Amino acid sequence: MTVMRESQILGLPGQLTTSLQMNRVMTLVVTLVMTLVVASPAMAQRASTSAAPPDRFGFGEPAPHTLIEDLDIDVGPDGTGLPEGEGTAQAGAALYRRLCASCHGPEGEGATANPLVGTDPPGIPPFGPEYEAWRGSSRDVPLTVGNYWPFATTLFDYIRRAMPTSAPGSLQTDEVFSLVAWVLAENDIIPSDTEMNAETLPQVRMPARSWFVPDDRRGGPEVR
Ligand code: HEC
Repeated sequence: MTVMRESQILGLPGQLTTSLQMNRVMTLVVTLVMTLVVASPAMAQRASTSAAPPDRFGFGEPAPHTLIEDLDIDVGPDGTGLPEGEGTAQAGAALYRRLCASCHGPEGEGATANPLVGTDPPGIPPFGPEYEAWRGSSRDVPLTVGNYWPFATTLFDYIRRAMPTSAPGSLQTDEVFSLVAWVLAENDIIPSDTEMNAETLPQVRMPARSWFVPDDRRGGPEVR
């Protein structure tokens, strides 16, 4: 292969004197050749096939069942998806102190992270005219499991998938049930000796449940 001088290629006056300039010319030539080599079969193929996408793209691999099972951990409001296992608030208290109190406060009252316990305002939603009258000039209460979460089962799903933030997914099933029981008991929703499991947890009626209604307003897709 004959290599043209840089001055010939670029049409510029001057001499190729340094090896640095020589390297630049070589790089240019090699890049051009590589582009042609890589591009031509692809172009030929594109011309000869229809617009239909290929059956396979040639990357990725089938996900094994175990991987899918590890990720398929959602728990529905009615408890669908809850695993076998159980726990009580008594067992949860020690776990809570060890794994959660540093961020959520020793009693769940909140610290660097959200409070998990809060039963005010008593018997009314934490918003609306009744609440404003109750609150008067005092500060807003935080929204918590006790005054704002409509389903107890969400606690299981959330703690299992997201907490503690330093090691999400690290808790065993019984540990999650115990922590759920502890949070519910601290919010005076269940007695501290009540066992939480796949049957009992969906039956827990949350104080905020009746403040949430199905959104059946019209004005969605049927309008468009
Ligand atoms: C390193 C700090 C940290 C630790 C430890 C931690 N959390 Fe959290 N937690 C957070 C933060 C931050 C949030 C808010 C996350 C967000 O809003 O996206 C949160 C949110 C929550 C919530 C939702 C609160 C709400 O009302 O929205 C629950 C329930 C919860 N954590 C439970 C736990 C439990 C149980 C443990 C112990 C296993 C734990 N957390 C340990 C930082 C922590």
